[in-house]
Amino acid sequence: MSKLSLVIVLAAGDSKRMKSKQSKVLHKIAGRSVIENLLASVKPLSPKNLTVVVGANKDEVIQHLAKISPEAKTVFQEKRDGTGSATQLALAEHKGDGTVLVLAGDTPLLTNQTLSEFIQVHNDGKNIASVLTALQPDPTGYGRVIRASDDQILKIVEEKDATEEEKEIDEINTGVYLFDLAVLREEIKNLKNNNAQKELYLTDVISLINSSGKKSHAILSNDYSETLGINDRTQLAQCAAIMRDRINSEHMLNGVTILDPTTTWIDHGVKIEADVVIYPGSSITGESDIKSEAVIGPRTTLNSCVVEEGAKVVESNCTESVIGKGAKVGPFTYLRKGSVLKDESKAGSFVEIKNSTIGAKSKVAHLSYVGDAQIGVESNIGAATIFVNYDGENKHKTKVGDHVRIGSDTMLVAPVSVGDGAYTAAGSVINEDVPAGAIGIGRARQVNILGWVLKKRKDSKSAAAAKKAGAKE
Ligand code: UD1
Ligand code: CA
Repeated sequence: MSKLSLVIVLAAGDSKRMKSKQSKVLHKIAGRSVIENLLASVKPLSPKNLTVVVGANKDEVIQHLAKISPEAKTVFQEKRDGTGSATQLALAEHKGDGTVLVLAGDTPLLTNQTLSEFIQVHNDGKNIASVLTALQPDPTGYGRVIRASDDQILKIVEEKDATEEEKEIDEINTGVYLFDLAVLREEIKNLKNNNAQKELYLTDVISLINSSGKKSHAILSNDYSETLGINDRTQLAQCAAIMRDRINSEHMLNGVTILDPTTTWIDHGVKIEADVVIYPGSSITGESDIKSEAVIGPRTTLNSCVVEEGAKVVESNCTESVIGKGAKVGPFTYLRKGSVLKDESKAGSFVEIKNSTIGAKSKVAHLSYVGDAQIGVESNIGAATIFVNYDGENKHKTKVGDHVRIGSDTMLVAPVSVGDGAYTAAGSVINEDVPAGAIGIGRARQVNILGWVLKKRKDSKSAAAAKKAGAKE
């Protein structure tokens, strides 16, 4: 297949129907922008030139393109007066001949396979203009394809300009076209804006080509869902759901168990090995990497986390953390950036961990905050322990050695360290280092005032109970 001379992606539109501050092409689907999803299907075609027409929120779009597709050239459309004028601007910047593929930037579900097949049919038929069409169950909003005969297309009528009869047609223009560059250049000059939106429609090029005695062809795609466009948030959700199903199917076919694919959201780029089990309501995003036999969920969010073999993460929210082999997290655990749980360690219920390493087989089982800490192997952090890392201005570090027993409700006031094999007494405020093998006790001694309830709460139920138990004033 000869290489395309040019690909034009139209992405200048104002996205009015999205009611957003952001261009619609920057909204996200499966962790990638709408336009990044589209460009992923274009890239394998390796076109000689790629031009993106930008307009609304142009600086943001240009910045984004520089990151995801540095080879793309951008052309600015200041006045958004239609897909026809956007295409004119892109053509003005390009001199060569050959074939041009034009796409709308808001169709993120197109696959490379569909584009390749479209190009193949166009080339085989030696077409000079081809429109990729689809049969949409609900064609509302799309341009309708008026066929001449067989595969020839007479014109495309926009919804707003269509007669009631034309609106009945369910074959739509997907916004994907192939043209002979010389012919397109010749005809696009003649576009007029005598339509409902007072715009120059690229779609009108088709009837212009016909009037000049040449032919345009409709090539029907076999999966309408690929060609769905995003104009508003309902379509954004619809496309996101289709992409979710696609990604989930791929993982399932690779040996991942997903109990409820409709509530499991996995981004592009997430790696999951075979024999991972994912329970409902989970979302795995960013650069996450989940190793074999890990169990995720229910209701768990993992963002750019590594989960090693056989680890379990239940009802938890974790970001940029590493969960070691056989480690257990949750339910209701919050792992913030930089948490490293070594093999077979545990972070239990209502535990928050940030920028800390929990050594192998160590446990932070209940109701604790661990911040900026280094914990050795096989240590136990008692319930409700707080690593007091912030003095109001700066963060400080805590070091806990191997085989340490931190008593429940200990406050470890950083910077502080607890040596190997040391203990702290429950309820202690530890603000001095505890040497190896010592017990740190940092709490007031207990005083019992006998008979206090009988004197001060004379007629209470407590006093009665105390009396019954033999207490005396
Ligand atoms: C367009 C087609 C319609 C087709 C549908 C497929 C036209 C006139 N209509 O309609 O036949 O069924 O796509 O999804 O082409 N854009 C610009 N500059 C502009 C206007 C739009 O760059 O001045 C860009 C938009 O950012 C968008 C794309 O072109 O990515 C399509 O524009 P949009 O307004 O979404 O057109 P539709 O009404 O969906
Ligand atoms: Ca559109």
